[in-house]
Amino acid sequence: MNILAIETSCDDTCAALVEIKHGRFNVLKNIVASQADLHKKYGGVVPEVAARAHVETIIPVIKEAINSPSCIQGGVRGGLRGKRSIDAIAIASGPGLVTSLHIGVETAKSLSLAWNVPLIKVNHIEGHIYSAIINNNISNLKFPAIALIVSGGHTELILMQNHGKYKLLGRTRDDASGEAFDKSAKMLSLPYPGGPEISKRAQKGNPYKYDIPKPMIHEKGYEFSFSGMKNAIRLLIEDISHTDAPLERLYPDLCASIEQAIVDVLVSKSIKAVEEYNPKTFILGGGVSANKKLRKTLANALPKSTKFLIPELKYCMDNASMVAVAGYFHAKKKEFIPYHKLKADANWELV
Ligand code: KG4
Ligand code: ZN
Repeated sequence: MNILAIETSCDDTCAALVEIKHGRFNVLKNIVASQADLHKKYGGVVPEVAARAHVETIIPVIKEAINSPSCIQGGVRGGLRGKRSIDAIAIASGPGLVTSLHIGVETAKSLSLAWNVPLIKVNHIEGHIYSAIINNNISNLKFPAIALIVSGGHTELILMQNHGKYKLLGRTRDDASGEAFDKSAKMLSLPYPGGPEISKRAQKGNPYKYDIPKPMIHEKGYEFSFSGMKNAIRLLIEDISHTDAPLERLYPDLCASIEQAIVDVLVSKSIKAVEEYNPKTFILGGGVSANKKLRKTLANALPKSTKFLIPELKYCMDNASMVAVAGYFHAKKKEFIPYHKLKADANWELV
């Protein structure tokens, strides 16, 4: 089975062609047109700018994903002799920025109609969960599983009893963990996206130099909150700006302390959930899962009996391969949607 997937929920225009063969998900093409440079000067994603850029790049990006010598361009079912056919189109139709989602959704609908290929709607968060088995075997994902999805818009701990069976353990009450990185970076005049910038500077710093509050860390349950942390960081930066030392010289310690506080909260809640549910698999996904400290701290803290699945670095950020993999499990259950019924759903909650 070959799935063409499209992902335009935020600021990256993505298309991918994924082959599912002998229980393995093989990425044939993974195309990402990043808009990071466009949004950099605003210090964050501007929805209208993102949507306009998606309109310009979506067709070239899809063409690149399917225009390989071994792939036919139109999805003639069954394929031509020796060529690949596209058996389904998977589209991330939410959650995300509605103006951005529209571009991918309308394109996927048009292709489904023109090629007569079935359409699958995929939740973006579900995509991040399945990013852990891209270029991997289905058998690696054993249940029950717990997924920590951490990105610019999400921080969610999800219990998975089987494919498609999700229970929300907890999510953030306010800012997402990626937002905590991005907003801290902005306060330090570092470029967007802030996660990699903070993490780069943190490497040479002392993570215990500044005492950053870790909201909710000792509270029962699995909810997170990062807005208080953001305010504390703002006050701390204001405070140390008044000292004689140039702020840039304090960056390594500041960044290391911020990173440590965010990682401590995420790991502490994750381990609490693992102790309660004793999962066979723990999945880390979403843009923040690219963070080396988070990956390492979680790997050390998880019990040996729990298999730790993390995406390759390039599949931590938004991409369409993850949408194809998640889409496969819907295709298997014949959960297709007629093109005229599909709508972008900016607030689509997985659970
Ligand atoms: O999943 P993603 O590409 O988009 C959303 O769905 O939000 O995640 C982007 C987020 C940004 O907040 C970015 O700062 C964060 O992931 N991020 C990181 C790192 N790389 C990306 N955060 C911490 N450390 C990193 N190395
Ligand atoms: Zn994402």
